[in-house]
Amino acid sequence: MNPIKTFEDEKSSRIENFGRDLLLRSISRNWLEISMERQYVYNFNCLGRPIIQYPQDIVAMQELIWTVKPDLIIETGIAHGGSLILSASMLAMLDYCEAVETGNTLDPSATQRRVLGLDIDIRPHNRDAITAHPMSHRIDMIQGSSVDPDIISKVHEIASGYKTVMVCLDSNHTHDHVLKELEAYAPLTSKGSYCCVFDTFVEDMPIGFFKDRPWNVSNNPKTAVLEYLRLLKERSCNAADGVPLTFEIDKTIENKLLITVAPDGYLKRVG
Ligand SMILES: C[S@@+](CC[C@H](N)C(=O)[O-])C[C@H]1O[C@@H](n2cnc3c(N)ncnc32)[C@H](O)[C@@H]1O
Repeated sequence: MNPIKTFEDEKSSRIENFGRDLLLRSISRNWLEISMERQYVYNFNCLGRPIIQYPQDIVAMQELIWTVKPDLIIETGIAHGGSLILSASMLAMLDYCEAVETGNTLDPSATQRRVLGLDIDIRPHNRDAITAHPMSHRIDMIQGSSVDPDIISKVHEIASGYKTVMVCLDSNHTHDHVLKELEAYAPLTSKGSYCCVFDTFVEDMPIGFFKDRPWNVSNNPKTAVLEYLRLLKERSCNAADGVPLTFEIDKTIENKLLITVAPDGYLKRVG
C-alpha cells in the first residue's frame, strides 16, 4: 500500500466523519462564540501586519491558494492589511516555487501574481504600513465602497488581464451588502477557484450577538450566500469568462477546520 495514499485516505475519511461529529461540532461552535465575545479574532499577525481572522481560516486560505494557484486575488475589506499580506506572501511563494521548478531566475520586480484590495476607509497609518511592507510590490489598493458601480467596473477591467482569479469578501457583513458584492465579484472567480465569504458564522450566533453592528441572525453573509446560490439556480448567470456560473459550498473545508468564521462561505466555482 502506498503510504502517501493511505495518509490522504485516512485524512479524507476523518474529515468526513468530523462533519457528522455532533459533539465536536457543538464544542467548536461554543468555543467560537465565547472566543469571539473575547475578541480572540484580533490576536494575530501575518508577516507583521494585524490580520482579523481565526488561525484556522488562515490555514484554509494557505491551502486554497496553494491548490488553486491564482494569479489575482481580489479582497474586499483591508483593515490593517494582514489578509492582503497573507495573500501576497502566498502568491510570492507560488512564484518562488515555480522558479525553482522551472530553473528560472526569480525577479521580484517582474512578478505577475497580484492582490487587489478594496476598502471604503483605508486609514493613513494602515496604508503607510502596507506600502512600506516588502510584499507591497504585489498589492494594489482602491479606496471606496466595494459596491460602488465605478469601483466594480474598475475591478472588472483589472481582472480581465488575469487568468486565474480568487475572490475574498470580508467588508460590510450585512445581507444586502454581501449579496451586492457576490453579484459584482463572484462572476470574476475562475472555474475551479473559490469565492470565499467571511463572517457567515453570524447566522449561527445568538440573536443580537453583535451589539454595535447592523448584521445579525437573518441579516449576514450566510443569508446572502444562500440567496445568491438560489438566484444563480433560478436565473442562470454567466461568469466573466462567458461560461454559465455554478458554485458549490465546499463543506470539506469547514469540516476539517471545525472552528471557522466562514461556514458555508467557501464557495468553489464548479461550472
Ligand atoms: C473585517 S475588516 C477586514 C479584515 C481583513 N480582511 C483581515 O482579514 O484582516 C472589514 C473592513 O471592511 C471595510 N468596509 C466596510 N464597509 C465597506 C464597504 N462598503 N466597501 C469596502 N470596504 C468596506 C472596513 O473599513 C474594514 O476595514
